[in-house]
Amino acid sequence: MSSPGPSGLRIKSPDLLVAESGADLEGNGLKRSMGLFQLVCFGIGAIVGTGIFVGLSDTVAEAGPAVIVSFVLAAVTCVFTAFSFAELGGAIPVSGSSYSYAYATLGERAAFLVGWCLLLEYGISVSAVAVGWGQYLNELLGSLTGWQLPAALSNPPGDGGIVNIPAVVVMLLAALLLVRGIRESARATAAMAVLKLAILVLFCAIGFSAFRAGHLSPFAPESIAGITSGASVAFFSYIGFDAITTAGEEVKNPRRNIPLAILICIGVVTVLYSLVAVAAIGALSSDQVADQPAALSLIVNHVTHSAFGGGVIAFGAVVAIASVVLAVMYGQTRILMSMSRDGLVPRVFERISPRTSTPVANTWIVAVVFAVPAAVVPLDVVMNLTTIGTLAVMAVVNVSVMVLRRTRPDLPRRFRVPFFPVSPLLGIGFCLYLMYGTGPATWLQFAGFVVVGALVYACYGRQRSRLAGTAATAAADDIPAGPAPALATREG
Ligand code: ALA
Repeated sequence: MSSPGPSGLRIKSPDLLVAESGADLEGNGLKRSMGLFQLVCFGIGAIVGTGIFVGLSDTVAEAGPAVIVSFVLAAVTCVFTAFSFAELGGAIPVSGSSYSYAYATLGERAAFLVGWCLLLEYGISVSAVAVGWGQYLNELLGSLTGWQLPAALSNPPGDGGIVNIPAVVVMLLAALLLVRGIRESARATAAMAVLKLAILVLFCAIGFSAFRAGHLSPFAPESIAGITSGASVAFFSYIGFDAITTAGEEVKNPRRNIPLAILICIGVVTVLYSLVAVAAIGALSSDQVADQPAALSLIVNHVTHSAFGGGVIAFGAVVAIASVVLAVMYGQTRILMSMSRDGLVPRVFERISPRTSTPVANTWIVAVVFAVPAAVVPLDVVMNLTTIGTLAVMAVVNVSVMVLRRTRPDLPRRFRVPFFPVSPLLGIGFCLYLMYGTGPATWLQFAGFVVVGALVYACYGRQRSRLAGTAATAAADDIPAGPAPALATREG
């Protein structure tokens, strides 16, 4: 069921991945409690947050009124990749997401590096998102009470502070909710998702009521270059749709619900973001929106001539960003759990509490470790790194879907990528294009990060891989490699 591959790639069979996770059974220690609606809400929860509430004004600064094109470009990149995620999520419905797909197609080293890059997409980005939450909380406190937390306790060093306490607090609260159980977390996420969609729809209604076509001209003051770098910034706001695939072991009927939820989420946020961008630029000129910290609140205040509307939007942002923290932290814990099962990271990450059916130790480790950058790193420092890491993972997912079609055409697929192989090839092209848009400094940082990952794999993961152990034992006994050893250990 596993094979070292023609060139020692250590490929893990999709059947083994599915059998280990119990994807077609009643779960593997985790409860199957999420239906399609909850899964869609979970996806919206992971996607809509800092990117639209904070990052919109940064995108406008790059692209001007052509921000709309930047958002559509970022959406197109995501749509092609979302097709690939949907096919793989239905064919291999396990918690490891892109990490597991790479393991099943490109081998262990590539899988480890994908898991490594997912630390950027999930872990580091949750720190960044928590920082954004802290800023909005302070904004909301100011508009409600006139009092704000002192700058020293609500900003990192380099941004006029010492430590960002609100960012740490939201991460610890998210961990507290996650360890209580997925049912409770899913309910909270669903409520937050519905609320933030309502807030953004309200924003669109207010923005369109003051729409002035003159604000759209000149349309692209920074031409194609501005649109491209704008798309790289806008891309951050779409990150998170793949978190749906990390819930593979807690979803009812995962082979149907995972692909469907991905496509619904990406469709909803693309339409919503485009409407928000048009409403924003139509209501206030791009010069007035560019680089404003709480741009959506600013626009609503301007249109309604009162501070009340802006306060409502700030409240929405606090809720929206909190739900991103929750959903993305959840995704990080499930990916580490899959890597731990494979022996590539320490076993503590796979332990599931019999009391709550959640990976308690894993969740607290993630919360505490990533609370450190949240406390001391400015918001914008890690955003580009998160973006390039995510794009690299997405490019690999598009490659994986093509490889799996060739190596396992027999695998049941509830959803198939349309226009294959044009669609995944376009997905790869768009990912590389947006990676190019992040700029040379980010490319270098990313290259350094990947080199460190390769070293960690060589020194730790490669030696401790359970797949290698199983294959070696099988070879020694001259029998085919069978299923992996214990799938999940339990806390006593
Ligand atoms: N897409 C997520 C956000 O915008 C990361 O906060």
